[in-house]
Amino acid sequence: MSNRYDAVYRQSINDPEGFWGEVAEDCHWFKKWDKVLDTSQAPIYRWFTGGELNTCYNALDFHVDHRGRGDRLALIYDSPVTQTIKKYTYAELRDEVARFAGALAGKGVTKGDRVIIYMPMIPEAVIAMLACARIGAIHSVVFGGFAAKELATRIDDAMPKVIVSASCGIEGQRVIAYKPLLDEAIEIASEKPEACIIFQRPQVEAPLTPGRDTSWQEAITSATPADCVTVAATDPLYILYTSGTTGQPKGVVRDNGGHAVALKWTMKAIYDIDEDDVWWAASDVGWVVGHSYIVYAPLFKGCTSVLFEGKPVGTPDAGVFWRVISEHKVKCMFTAPTAYRAIRREDPEAKLIKNYDLSNFKILFMAGERLDPATIQWSENNLGVPVIDHWWQTETGWAIAANCMGLHPFPVKYGSPTKAVPGWDVRVLNPENEELPTGEIGALSVKLPLPPGSLPTLWQNDQRYIEAYLSEYPGYYKTADAGMIDEEGYIYVMSRTDDIINVAGHRLSTGAMEEVLAAHPDVAECAVLGVEDSLKGQVPVGFLVLNAGVTRDTNEIIQEAVAQIREQIGPVAAFKMATVVKRLPKTRSGKILRGTIQKIADKKQFKTPATIDDPTILDEIKTALEGIGLAGARKES
Ligand code: COA
Ligand code: AMP
Repeated sequence: MSNRYDAVYRQSINDPEGFWGEVAEDCHWFKKWDKVLDTSQAPIYRWFTGGELNTCYNALDFHVDHRGRGDRLALIYDSPVTQTIKKYTYAELRDEVARFAGALAGKGVTKGDRVIIYMPMIPEAVIAMLACARIGAIHSVVFGGFAAKELATRIDDAMPKVIVSASCGIEGQRVIAYKPLLDEAIEIASEKPEACIIFQRPQVEAPLTPGRDTSWQEAITSATPADCVTVAATDPLYILYTSGTTGQPKGVVRDNGGHAVALKWTMKAIYDIDEDDVWWAASDVGWVVGHSYIVYAPLFKGCTSVLFEGKPVGTPDAGVFWRVISEHKVKCMFTAPTAYRAIRREDPEAKLIKNYDLSNFKILFMAGERLDPATIQWSENNLGVPVIDHWWQTETGWAIAANCMGLHPFPVKYGSPTKAVPGWDVRVLNPENEELPTGEIGALSVKLPLPPGSLPTLWQNDQRYIEAYLSEYPGYYKTADAGMIDEEGYIYVMSRTDDIINVAGHRLSTGAMEEVLAAHPDVAECAVLGVEDSLKGQVPVGFLVLNAGVTRDTNEIIQEAVAQIREQIGPVAAFKMATVVKRLPKTRSGKILRGTIQKIADKKQFKTPATIDDPTILDEIKTALEGIGLAGARKES
């Protein structure tokens, strides 16, 4: 039997131009597009070529000027770590954004210039992003948990004219000064910004570098509010760096037109949100979820978005999510499963829920990592609302697969993010680029063209975009996730096919960690693997083979290795476990047997691979893992 989802899905795949052309009418355009889909540069596709708009106008001014909704709440900043709740109407947010856009313009920022934003979860981060969009500048937000070196890599790639930062972030009970990290990053980077604007928070006063730094407060005092400029639909709105298979992150580009069209549409189709609803994505503006669903999509939609500066536990307790939902009358929330695992660990019987009125709460959405059945069941039982898994990536910008709650909710199958979202033609392929039959596991791929709002390319690197995503399966986008599709069209996402691991919903490259460890003077060879963790989903574990003749205390070397990753990648890597082994298990052709080590660490049954060069090494690996509290797997007889 056909339903609304089926009809919409079919139209989106059979007639993408007709479908997205119609959807695009919902946005405000200064000039309408000439072509919905431009295939002239295939396999690089562009949406809405010839169209002109402004993202900030669509997010703010449109609601004030055209819809008479200037008094409607746009943003609720709820910060248990500073005991602050601050609300902005659409008109107020528009005015603050216009003023800061004027401050950026005052520093010489114009259309096409890059601005790096390195900020905690404060309204000024959102204001800075929208201010860039307002004047056509391209923002690149860098997550606060990255180390100076990672920030420096992004500075060198994006070459920002200005960096916007804050004096500190607040991580639970700890205040983390951002300015020393920023100064160090600028010191390391070869491309220096012309100016920095620093938001001074009362918890820490950052010393300013004369001639380069201005405080946010001072910058806006003298600024003239800036109006929205017109940009091409195909102009970049932002660059968001994400982990690839090397230490060099990939600069995912998002354009203005396709992004506004697709994201606005998703708010109702996927999340069932209307403009009078309150929506909360508990993520960080440094991640794609924060870009898409704290800032842009809810504001395009004209609803209210909650900006939460806190953790699921400890700020002050495991009831804070329920407090926020209840206090702000949140209809739907979106977060990563790890956040709910953290709550469940502290309050397994969900006693704290009973203190709050959650009658407005209707749907919980989860993404970013595999949603394990125990977490889904605990959430369903204790909240009494549907718990909806959905699958997406930094690159895609919005969900590839979901249970589209605004089109037609399907029964939930545990372990599946349900079906392909309209716009996404998902196929399972074998290495020969052939489609696999229903139920067989292979490479989850998307037939080109990707829908609007997904990445058109990598920042100034079409070639890397093509090589990384479009070459292995010609005609398709490689998601680098393995999985299958069942007979009812439900998609199952099993594992990554590359070296990416998912730690507390944060995407990290083990290859990048190996690059850091390999630089330790005593390390001859190393491997980093993601092992299962009951809270964070996965955590990285390092295996170090030391240079011949090294006689130092191995514990000291391990401590140095842990410190090195923290300093060079950042605390977000959560790299705390490493062990020294004599050799790494390899095939006779020299390939490290990662899958076997992984099984030993995850306490799964494993077979000694026929290709192994020396089977005795596996016992050594097992003993080493037991030494750090991991392992216990049994060899299959
Ligand atoms: N600035 C500075 N440091 C940061 C940071 C930031 N914005 N975010 C995280 N860190 C630090 C943490 O303080 C921690 O440091 P530590 O090793 O000194 O303790 C480290 O990075 C690891 O952080 P995290 O993985 O977040 O672990 P945690 O123990 O602090 O918290 C959870 C665990 C589960 C509560 C937390 O990961 C969480 O809320 N996750 C939700 C996931 C999420 O929002 N994902 C986004 C995609 S939807
Ligand atoms: P990121 O780019 O940080 O959003 O990470 C994207 C990766 O996270 C995907 O390629 C998947 O490996 C994983 N992921 C995201 N959502 C899900 C999900 N719902 N189920 C399983 N894995 C997911």
